Amino acid sequence: MIRLEAAKAINPQSTIRNQKSKRDYMLCLKTPSQPRWIESAQVDLHKIMVDHAHCEKKAAANAMALINRYPERDLLVRKMFDLVDEEMEHFRYVYQMIRDRGGVLQRDPGDPYAQALHKLIRKNEPERMLDQLLVAALIEARSCERFRILSEHIPDSELAEFYGSLLASEAGHYRVFCDIAREYYPEKEVRERLDELAEREAEIVQNLPNEPMMHG
Ligand SMILES: [Fe+2]
Ligand SMILES: [Fe+2]
Repeated sequence: MIRLEAAKAINPQSTIRNQKSKRDYMLCLKTPSQPRWIESAQVDLHKIMVDHAHCEKKAAANAMALINRYPERDLLVRKMFDLVDEEMEHFRYVYQMIRDRGGVLQRDPGDPYAQALHKLIRKNEPERMLDQLLVAALIEARSCERFRILSEHIPDSELAEFYGSLLASEAGHYRVFCDIAREYYPEKEVRERLDELAEREAEIVQNLPNEPMMHG
């Protein structure tokens, strides 16, 4: 079975910290996920887990890609080291959980939500780096919200507890991306662009088909 003890070890004080993270991520999201999403998610939890595993893997890959693009940005590189480790740790847990339940990983179904957000990234620097950081922040915030919903609604207690254990970590990732953005860009520019991108993210979420995918 999935090592819930290990999952808890990611966030040993998850209950207390979850309350704080809940407030934090709500600061940037402009709309909640639709109730229909959790209804569809519950119909196919295996599909959710497979998609979730790929999301963790892609989060680690995105952190590596940022190091590749901006090797001279010391704070970014150091924060991304930690993020790669954490996301790969999450990937390993979800992968193990899928195997423990007799499943296999299967191919990445793709993430139209993340693809739509990535299209909003401006092409030229310095705007490009800012947008990459803020899009990553929004994806972390939305993931955090969806983990909370899963932890509160799915009847599978082991899985619900696992998703609850990831909440604080993903909220922390949201803050990491915002902190890096503030290090390299004026506070006002970060705030205004995050607000703009959050508006667009809300439109994207409202138009999702509500499929059993992490961002479906
Ligand atoms: Fe993660
Ligand atoms: Fe994350």
